[in-house]
Amino acid sequence: WAVHAPYVVAINRLKRERDAVILGHNYMTPQVFHGVCDVVGDSLQLAMAAREVAASVIVQGGVHFMAETSKVLNPGKTVLMPDMAAGCSLASSITAEGVAEMRRRYPGAPVVAYVNTSAEVKAAADVCCTSANAAQIVRGMDSETVIMLPDKYLAQNVARQVPEKQVVWWDGACIVHEQFTPADLREFRSFHPGTRIIAHPECPPDVVAEADFTGSTAGIIAYVGQEKPASALLVTECSMASNIADAHPSVEFVGPCTMCPYMKMITLEKILWSLHTMTTPVEVPAHLAEGARASVQRMIDLSG
Ligand code: 13P
Ligand code: SF4
Repeated sequence: WAVHAPYVVAINRLKRERDAVILGHNYMTPQVFHGVCDVVGDSLQLAMAAREVAASVIVQGGVHFMAETSKVLNPGKTVLMPDMAAGCSLASSITAEGVAEMRRRYPGAPVVAYVNTSAEVKAAADVCCTSANAAQIVRGMDSETVIMLPDKYLAQNVARQVPEKQVVWWDGACIVHEQFTPADLREFRSFHPGTRIIAHPECPPDVVAEADFTGSTAGIIAYVGQEKPASALLVTECSMASNIADAHPSVEFVGPCTMCPYMKMITLEKILWSLHTMTTPVEVPAHLAEGARASVQRMIDLSG
């Protein structure tokens, strides 16, 4: 913390001068998560928080699609990305043309776009979902066939939860969660009997099948808080365990560290530079913002 403290102090001072707030995803490093974020949460919580921001500036402690979502939901604010290269393997796996291709393949089926998509893709979809509400959104579609994109694993996990629908998917995956295998988890259990295995639904279904609980990053945090297992393996990005370890001293967090290289681009140094220079503001063209907002709003209405 000694190396981080000067940045934390400078950022928190500059936030007041710039009338800025920092919205931080649960995958931020502990120094960002605990040191400078005003609101932390999963994608859904950050989107809801972005709508309520009264300050003039939002600094997105997260990846580019999250900044676009904040801008779309609160267009009067300046939304800054500390590093524009912080993308997402899911968001970059599909464009609006991909959405059109799926509509051609499955005529009349509604398109549910994961929030891990560009504003262009959200605008081309009918409704959005996050990992916290995906099953609920799919269940609420007035059609037997539902297109989910771009995460094939989230779609396959939802298909198991909503057997009354025929869920079809795009071939995208998260580069973090696709790395886990059921064999890893079984081996882990054999060495650490009694460990609670908690997985994110971006993991492949055979990994989810080995887990004791599956949920969004906020769902995972809530589960740990309620269950307080003696030992827990979080099958997700590894800053999660570091970020919640202090709040749960009785829980031993075990397991390997798998990082999201995009989330890790958001450092204290870049946040400070971003606030100092007011860079880089995220803009969403009006014609896309309107459609993207409608898809996100439909998600909020359906999951309310
Ligand atoms: P959550 O909505 O569960 O926070 O997930 C976002 C994400 O990018 C997970 O990889
Ligand atoms: Fe995208 Fe996966 Fe990183 Fe989440 S963890 S931002 S889904 S690449």
